Amino acid sequence: MNKEEFLAKYAVDRKDTASVKWDGMQEEFGSSDLYPLWVADTEFKIPQSSVTALQKRVAHGAFGYSLTPEGYYDAYFTWQKERYGIELHKEWLRFGTGVVQSLSTLLQFSTIPGDAVMIMEPVYHPFRHVIEDNDRKVVANELVDFGEEYKMDLEKIEEQMVANDVKVLMLCNPHNPVARVWTEEELANLLELCRKEQVLVISDEIHHDLLPSDKKFVSALSIKDGFYRDNMIMVDSPSKTFNMAGLLISHVVIPNPQLRDRYDQQQEILHAPASNILGMVAGQAAYSDGADWLAGLLAVVKDNYDYLKAHLQAAFPEIKITDQEGTYLAWVDLSAVVAPEELKHVVQDQAKLAVDFGSMFGQGGAGHIRINLATTPENLQAAVSSLVKTLQENQA
Ligand SMILES: Cc1ncc(COP(=O)(O)O)c(C=O)c1O
Repeated sequence: MNKEEFLAKYAVDRKDTASVKWDGMQEEFGSSDLYPLWVADTEFKIPQSSVTALQKRVAHGAFGYSLTPEGYYDAYFTWQKERYGIELHKEWLRFGTGVVQSLSTLLQFSTIPGDAVMIMEPVYHPFRHVIEDNDRKVVANELVDFGEEYKMDLEKIEEQMVANDVKVLMLCNPHNPVARVWTEEELANLLELCRKEQVLVISDEIHHDLLPSDKKFVSALSIKDGFYRDNMIMVDSPSKTFNMAGLLISHVVIPNPQLRDRYDQQQEILHAPASNILGMVAGQAAYSDGADWLAGLLAVVKDNYDYLKAHLQAAFPEIKITDQEGTYLAWVDLSAVVAPEELKHVVQDQAKLAVDFGSMFGQGGAGHIRINLATTPENLQAAVSSLVKTLQENQA
């Protein structure tokens, strides 16, 4: 589907629908009169096939305790296999109500309080919170900023793993917020290191369908034909791809049977709900019939990124914007034009943008903002104009 068709069919006004991004702005930012470019969801309806499937299920009217529909496995596995060559098996898969909730459960059974868990900052901030809230120790490795691209520093990672006796690495691929899609070689080197140092890998691949570039996504599960699978747990969800976070569905993939048993025991202790039938119904339909919808979404994201980069850098060539390999979240370094301590005042109070500020993502984040590109061109363009105008006025 092309961009125009996608926008005509799927763009939707989410104000006054109890949306965090729109209706939660007042509480978060102290004003609802801002361009909403924060929370990582989109301004678009889910694929029509999912709406139709939900309507049919809702019309049935009964919502008692439910199993996973058999068709769900087929739809998800086929999507993963045909698009990315990922082989999955039913016995490996568990369901959750969200990836972050699953990350917490995974740490609870794979580590004990005080154990060291590594993250690569700047990174999606709940990684740090999940570790700290479970009384584990954060070991933050800082990604290396090459301006348009971030890279891993393997030597430093190894040094920190050894020095801190790290037990688990939380990997983010594609990496939110720096928009990298890690290559097969990068992943192979990292996974080999984790194998050597006996560090369990939790690979959060929730953004893996969101590739507004020609980058190829490779799952950690597939590296060297699955050689590292026994030392790994993968989490993802249809929610980020298809804008269904409110439907509370996510996946935990555990190929190693011993790890799986320990996960199941922890889930029993927590008495955690497995998932939500409406999420299953919507997710199954999206995986079966959502490829064209996704092409339309990515066309919008790509054009929004190109617009953002062209217009910000035309006015201020010194602003650095990382390449948008993956995710719909742009990572913009404003430190050359705004002092980090002035960032919030300039971006939020003066330019009226509701964005996520870089410092929230940990080391290396200061001076940056994260802009959600999965919005209408009108919203994005108005926000960019406002930011450029504010920066120009401040310079005059
Ligand atoms: C890397 C990453 N993991 C997990 C999540 C959230 O997942 P969930 O809503 O399923 O908890 C996000 C949301 O932005 C994310 O960026």
